[in-house]
Amino acid sequence: MTIPVIIDTDTAQDDCVTIIAGMMDPVAEVRAITMVAGNVGFDQQVRNAHLTLNALGMLGEVPIFLGCRRPVLVPWVSAENVHGDGSGGLRIDEQGLRTEDEHGVDALLRLTAEAPGEISIVAIGPLTNLAVAAIKDPTFPARVKRLVIMGGSNNGRGNITPAGEFNFYVDPHAARIVFEAGFDITLVPWAPLTLNDAVFKRDQLAEIASLGTPLSEFFGHVCASTLAFDESVGIPGTTHPDSLSLTVLLHPELVTRSARQHVAIECDSELTRGYSAISWGVHGLEPNAEVIEAVDGEAFYAYLKGILATRTEPNRPYLARG
Ligand code: BDR
Ligand code: CA
Repeated sequence: MTIPVIIDTDTAQDDCVTIIAGMMDPVAEVRAITMVAGNVGFDQQVRNAHLTLNALGMLGEVPIFLGCRRPVLVPWVSAENVHGDGSGGLRIDEQGLRTEDEHGVDALLRLTAEAPGEISIVAIGPLTNLAVAAIKDPTFPARVKRLVIMGGSNNGRGNITPAGEFNFYVDPHAARIVFEAGFDITLVPWAPLTLNDAVFKRDQLAEIASLGTPLSEFFGHVCASTLAFDESVGIPGTTHPDSLSLTVLLHPELVTRSARQHVAIECDSELTRGYSAISWGVHGLEPNAEVIEAVDGEAFYAYLKGILATRTEPNRPYLARG
């Protein structure tokens, strides 16, 4: 049995890896990619999604819907200092590349209305599209099978600020709306989970590079800028919270510890904007999410390496850099 899934993404670096895993894993049936403002410029994110499908040899095989180009209330903040352009400067001839006319929010509503209770969503960017969809149609959350969210930290450190993880920091109001909307949520936090179990170290990156496939080369390009940034802030490798989120949905046997807990998002304080306060069950709060606490990191790495080892034929050649 396959798992129908929509990937809601701010495509750069590990978002690209997530699309690769979704398109390659026979367990997944990716019904759509919906784009949301986040990591890098919106049009560059769309370019990165096309570049990823091109590396797979799958251009045109999944629809790309353009969603919200800015957060609900606050101005957009980029992570270009972390990800560069998100694809390591790769370019292809873009002639004839297309995206859908339908807005990403409307696509989320329509696709889940056509198959109520069947489609899961992996949300690996700011939660703007999901929040707007839930406001536009309050019956939307009940139609989504599972919503796996990458964001926040488990009462731990942020990354864009001491308290704020990027996805929740960029659109804290959307995150709050989504956690209060009644989705069946699984949360994949930044700290400590990602930092413990989803960092690929230099020796692992060398192993991936030695695979010598179009996908392993593409991986090296999209992760180069993030590796440099991560090492500059003391993280010993590249971080993969987005692809871990998809993996948790497709292969729950990799989860070694999780708990049903109440998650609330800080919107009012500039100091702790986007902070995810996660109650561990002693505060009388009703759980609204399954929080992933630990996974088998070795198995996760082996899983992604296996996918990157598969030989694909990119649709279009890369253009020489100008
Ligand atoms: C999250 O922020 C983005 O930069 C990554 O793609 C990931 O979704 C990590 O904080
Ligand atoms: Ca992301």
